[in-house]
Amino acid sequence: MWSTHFFKHYFRVILFHIVYDTPFYRLLSITASPRGAKYSSYLLSYYDFVVWAINSPICWGIEASTIASLYASNAGQKHGDIGPGTGFFLPGSPLVRDLTVFDFNTESLFMVKDKLLPPNQLTSLHLFMADMMESDPFIDPSISGPPFTWIKEGSFDSVAANFVVHCLKEQAGEGGGIKGKEVFFTNVVKLLKPGACFFGSTIVNEQDFFKDCKRGTEIMRRFNGNGIFHNINDTQADLREVLERHFDSVTCDLVGAVCVFSAFKR
Ligand SMILES: C[S@@+](CC[C@H](N)C(=O)[O-])C[C@H]1O[C@@H](n2cnc3c(N)ncnc32)[C@H](O)[C@@H]1O
Repeated sequence: MWSTHFFKHYFRVILFHIVYDTPFYRLLSITASPRGAKYSSYLLSYYDFVVWAINSPICWGIEASTIASLYASNAGQKHGDIGPGTGFFLPGSPLVRDLTVFDFNTESLFMVKDKLLPPNQLTSLHLFMADMMESDPFIDPSISGPPFTWIKEGSFDSVAANFVVHCLKEQAGEGGGIKGKEVFFTNVVKLLKPGACFFGSTIVNEQDFFKDCKRGTEIMRRFNGNGIFHNINDTQADLREVLERHFDSVTCDLVGAVCVFSAFKR
């Protein structure tokens, strides 16, 4: 058993060095935009492999299976997914029937559409181009389905934001770290029904973890330097405080450098 673990780990380390220490890194075509890093459809085609098979176990100390379980146990029938990337975890959410996806990047929205439709378990899918850091988040409410006014506030059984908060740019003048991202949480609260679940995970700058993880420290530095991440000032304590201000029954546990959270609307 230990030998399988050993070989898996070193295989991932080799892949890590191929991705980050060779010209391959230049192919990670991410464009900085005022709303945050924008992934091309080309990057999204290998995003899941790089993020979930290499970066997450090697740099952040978390396995995809932890997040898959979070989705499997918390995603409800009418589910909203903010910043879905490719929609990697959505097919493993057995209760979801009515799915709404929010992202400022249309490449992501279309990738989710291609991945999930049809045949699958969904009765409806709505795509919204939205910047969830704006107090009026809907940039173009008409990509699919009825206009946003159709989305009744307080109608979602669950909303997820997985690996999204560490990508959000703090609002100017609102303080550093997660407290400068509070508008994002206010937008999530509006979507949920009373008692409904908000869940997800986010990488924080957890020194106890990074002091023993050189690869993670290096990728944090690179990704914050080129605008892929905005999480140098993000901490578990601030995330918990912001969640407790907006929600009830908050859990916010550290796995490696990742806060895995769930919280319920009052
Ligand atoms: C790191 S990816 C996470 C993808 C996926 N949830 C996962 O767990 O692999 C972050 C996603 O959040 C989106 N995003 C970042 N900032 C956003 C914002 N302000 N509003 C809406 N979406 C945002 C990005 O376009 C991207 O799809």
